[in-house]
Amino acid sequence: MQREGTDDPRGATGGASSGVIDDGRDAATGAETVAATQPADTEVTSTVSGALPEGEAEIELRGVSKLFKSRTRETLALTDINLGIRNEEFVTLVGQSGCGKTTMLRILAGLIKPTDGEVRIKDRPLWRGNTRDEAALRELGLVFQDAHLFPWYTVEDNIGLPLLLRKVDRTERRRRAHELGELVGLQGFEKALPRELSGGMRQRVAIARALSYDPEILLMDEPFGALDAMTRDKMNMELQRIAGATGATVVLVTHSIAEAVFLADRVVLLSARPGRIRSITHVESPRPRPLEATAEPGFQDKVVALRRQLIEDEERVERQGGVSE
Ligand SMILES: Nc1ncnc2c1ncn2[C@@H]1O[C@H](COP(=O)(O)OP(=O)(O)OP(=O)(O)O)[C@@H](O)[C@H]1O
Ligand SMILES: [Mg+2]
Repeated sequence: MQREGTDDPRGATGGASSGVIDDGRDAATGAETVAATQPADTEVTSTVSGALPEGEAEIELRGVSKLFKSRTRETLALTDINLGIRNEEFVTLVGQSGCGKTTMLRILAGLIKPTDGEVRIKDRPLWRGNTRDEAALRELGLVFQDAHLFPWYTVEDNIGLPLLLRKVDRTERRRRAHELGELVGLQGFEKALPRELSGGMRQRVAIARALSYDPEILLMDEPFGALDAMTRDKMNMELQRIAGATGATVVLVTHSIAEAVFLADRVVLLSARPGRIRSITHVESPRPRPLEATAEPGFQDKVVALRRQLIEDEERVERQGGVSE
């Protein structure tokens, strides 16, 4: 693991100078942190590498940076991101608003090209020059914060839309939509229009649609952000079940630290702009997890440690005059 300086002299777990186990993880929280090498007032931002050993990653970001340029401004959204994600792994991305989470997901999805570095899917580069590898893209399913359903399409037609675009015939589309409707708990609503559904149900349609063409990798940007707490809990349980049933690799962006820890094998925390990997927290307990797992002390420790890191990050930005780099 590549480790550099840190803006947190106590280690990213906020004072846990003891308990850092051999592989660089904190024994209590599972966080990969950075050794205490900087005096208290230095403003060096830590970068943790999430790279995996050669051949272990299904999706990989190697030295990825993204600079947005317009006529009036340049924004360095991400810098030096190294992250490998294993087949069937569940990774969550957290960090302050504007730290580059969506940008990272869009880079993974091949929607935007990194300025520097490389994206690899199943050991193939996603980009060759300015051309995307369409075969690699076919492995990806996307779910965004808003369900983005077509209001005049029924549930089954919305679910089957990616199949229509892939020229799959109507009978097969119906069959698949029915099967997925059941998987996400929408049976009986196949003929309903989006306006007849609750917010949670619309998100389920969006998830079913993303699953319709059997993507091996699901990329989800705050998919449950607009839902109430109870529906969100239900969707979390549902998503765990679906991930298990389909064997999908999942990368999910969320603003909820508790949700991030509950769902993930690894929680990747990005620092304020430009986004760098500030810490990686391993959550060892097997998935799917019952809701009761959130009450366990180990779970709470991780949530508190991550919250602390976020607060420290915010304070760092404030010390720099409220503007991240
Ligand atoms: N297409 C774009 N053109 C110019 N700047 C952009 C573009 N997309 C994002 N940015 C900038 O990049 C930075 C990161 O944006 P991004 O949307 O990735 O943040 P985020 O972490 O997803 O935030 P949030 O939690 O609010 O969704 C922001 O400063 C944003 O203004
Ligand atoms: Mg975003």
